[in-house]
Amino acid sequence: MSPASPIVAIYPGSFDPMTKGHEDIAHRTLSVADRLVVAVAHDATHRKQNLFTVEERVAVINEIFGDDERVEALAFEGLLVDFARGLGSHLVVRGLRAISDFEYEMQMAQMNQELWPEIETIFFVPEVEYSFLSSSLVRQVASLGGDVSRFVSPPVLARLRKKLGG
Ligand code: PNS
Repeated sequence: MSPASPIVAIYPGSFDPMTKGHEDIAHRTLSVADRLVVAVAHDATHRKQNLFTVEERVAVINEIFGDDERVEALAFEGLLVDFARGLGSHLVVRGLRAISDFEYEMQMAQMNQELWPEIETIFFVPEVEYSFLSSSLVRQVASLGGDVSRFVSPPVLARLRKKLGG
């Protein structure tokens, strides 16, 4: 890679839905990368039932970052390394909120490294006020009628209200 090549980072995840913690990681990534592709996993290997479809998750992320042409959300299926290779990117970013994230993140980073040695994973630490925040808690609190307006951006809030009522 020549020194002038733009750095394209991939931020993969389920983003069901994107939280302000995710947004914080995306902004931090843009301090070191020229472009950011938010890669929305179709269903994260069939482990979980998503609240939003992949199309809804992609659309809301593109709305959140609508003013910033460096950011684009895309859906992906299959192996992350294949998606990265297809985009010509060697850089995956993930957020680390707490020690409890560490084991899972290390496993994924090392598996990706085994699958494609040219991939690098870098981790960003979110603002402390987001260290407890997760999409699953947002879904749970919102579905029980709690106020999640501090934890998600207005486009996400509007879609949560539409989907869950309230
Ligand atoms: O937000 P999540 O659910 O923790 O994100 C997990 C995700 C989507 C990043 C991970 O499941 C993934 O990369 N899935 C793609 C399948 C893959 O490449 N698996 C092998 C490496 S772990």
